[in-house]
Amino acid sequence: MKRIDPIVSEKTFTLTNNATGETYDLPVLEGTIGPQVLDIRALYRDLGIFTYDPGFTSTASCDSGITYIDGEKGILKHRGYPIEELASHSDYLDVCYLLLYEDLPSPEEKEQFNWSITHHTMLDDQLMTFFRGFRRDAHPMAIMVGIVGALSAFYHDSTDIYDPMQRMLASHRLIAKMPTIGACAYKYSIGQPFIYPRNDLSYAENLLYMMFATPSEEYQVNPIFAKAMDRILILHADHEQNASTSTVRLAGSSQANPFACISSGIASLWGPAHGGANEAVLNMLGEIGTSENILEFIERAKDPSDPFRLMGFGHRVYKSFDPRATVMKETAKEVLNELGMVDDPLLEIAQELERIALKDEYFVSKNLYPNVDFYSGLILKAIGFPTNMFTVLFAISRTVGWISHWKEMIGDPDNRIGRPRQLYTGEAHREFAHVTHRKHTKKPIWSWLWGGKKNES
Ligand code: ACO
Repeated sequence: MKRIDPIVSEKTFTLTNNATGETYDLPVLEGTIGPQVLDIRALYRDLGIFTYDPGFTSTASCDSGITYIDGEKGILKHRGYPIEELASHSDYLDVCYLLLYEDLPSPEEKEQFNWSITHHTMLDDQLMTFFRGFRRDAHPMAIMVGIVGALSAFYHDSTDIYDPMQRMLASHRLIAKMPTIGACAYKYSIGQPFIYPRNDLSYAENLLYMMFATPSEEYQVNPIFAKAMDRILILHADHEQNASTSTVRLAGSSQANPFACISSGIASLWGPAHGGANEAVLNMLGEIGTSENILEFIERAKDPSDPFRLMGFGHRVYKSFDPRATVMKETAKEVLNELGMVDDPLLEIAQELERIALKDEYFVSKNLYPNVDFYSGLILKAIGFPTNMFTVLFAISRTVGWISHWKEMIGDPDNRIGRPRQLYTGEAHREFAHVTHRKHTKKPIWSWLWGGKKNES
């Protein structure tokens, strides 16, 4: 499929300088669907001014044909396919192929792709020794950032970003090796031996097998868990220009190798405002403890002087509902039902919290709805994952989204290094003073550091 360039609309948008009366016409670009975009690329060159948009709330940083979101209507599509249909009828590797190669695979393509992913799941044996360098209590996301970054030191035959074959090899390696790395991080943290991947298992089954099997006994993957895992992977596979994807694109725009770029995406995903939210949801539900305490937490979330937020609520883009949350809620009920956990106290608290918040004027007026993370943690907990692994699983599924955006960007002839500008608000000019002539009235907050007696170990 050919890349579709944005259309330059016949319409223009006119800026008027109220002081001088001068006008300036901005071109308007149109995609296939979605809002029109003002093309401001020549603004600084022609007028000497920048635009100001912290958090990029009104800025399209690129054009992309991978994912479309309509936040007002709660629509999410990958390459034109609604997420609900993909979640119901596809498996994760189908969706990976779709994101990477622009179309769903034919039976032959599916077989070849599955073979390639399955046969790249192992890690270089020397890389296995890296895990032992981490403390046992290291957060698995810290291990992920380190090990994925270290892949660049092992797979030199897939770091030339200008060679399409090397780009493909790096993409397949990353998708294939992420579950192995995530499972090893977990096994290391609990002191169990690493479990090697099995080629007769599907992607989701292999992930569960490497996580939960031990060498001492037969392990059967629960098919309900495998189906739920596959659906969670699909629902998190891509979400257009979110913080971690934009991080990967920005890192890649400097021509950094793909392993380093994906490592930067993992770092960005780690934060509780992004991928760390499902871990935070479960911690919050545990803290709430019983339904009687819900109102107290709702009041805290509404209090502007309290930093507490309802985790799993709100989204930068979705302002009516998050379509992934709808599928996730159903999956949570299916899994908990199958396990005979319909009366799970955390599920009860979650449902009650959602019910109360959706009627509350504060949440309604600010368009705050449950997002994908609100229910995913409950499913993962039921399967047996510890909370600190939740973001790792998110990173595993999002790797295909990151790598698809990276690949799209490298193939874009308009790609340039990302370099935002700023509105400078610091000192305009100062005369240099020798250290003996400097006087500071404020004691630096880090002064306690030099009070220490010894080097930190
Ligand atoms: N609980 C209580 N109030 C909230 C919440 C929340 N979860 N989310 C937003 N608000 C309030 C803010 O206080 C703000 O109020 P104000 O206008 O009175 O100042 C208003 O709603 C808008 O919030 P912003 O932070 O400006 O919205 P933004 O789009 O920047 O943030 C975000 C979106 C980060 C997701 C936010 O809703 C949040 O922190 N949610 C909780 C964390 C979470 O669930 N993150 C997962 C996101 S999904 C994902 O990454 C896969």
